Amino acid sequence: MAVNTTTLIQRAREALLKAYAPYSKHPVGAALVADDGSLYAGCNIENAAYPLGHCAEATAIGSMVLAGNRHITHIVIVGPGEHACTPCGGCRQKIREFSGPEGVAITICNNDGDVLLETTIAELLPHAFGPDNVQETNR
Ligand code: THU
Repeated sequence: MAVNTTTLIQRAREALLKAYAPYSKHPVGAALVADDGSLYAGCNIENAAYPLGHCAEATAIGSMVLAGNRHITHIVIVGPGEHACTPCGGCRQKIREFSGPEGVAITICNNDGDVLLETTIAELLPHAFGPDNVQETNR
């Protein structure tokens, strides 16, 4: 059964409530759907050693990979304020890594679940370096 955008937004909002962001005070939630219809959510998890913190998208992708899925079809990211919480450069690359043949739809929302931006990984990371650029891959 296909996961609709409303459900993804709701799950991302729930994930944001679990964020551990005492340093930035910028809680983020993400929810993604894999190509088999499974849904995975994540929040950002910061650390007193600042560079060790990781993003909500990375948490959700980790859950997806652990469950045995490899292709994201749609990811929703929810952040505070009205400035669209677009994925950082590192997360764009991580999303690209697990893009299926159809690409990845990306929806960015505010904390109320209002859509601020609808885009794709191809738009956010054009001419990406990806698995096809590498001769040998473990995928
Ligand atoms: N952050 C995310 O989790 N996802 C994004 O798309 C952008 C930024 C987190 C990282 C850090 O914990 C906080 O937001 C402030 O940068």
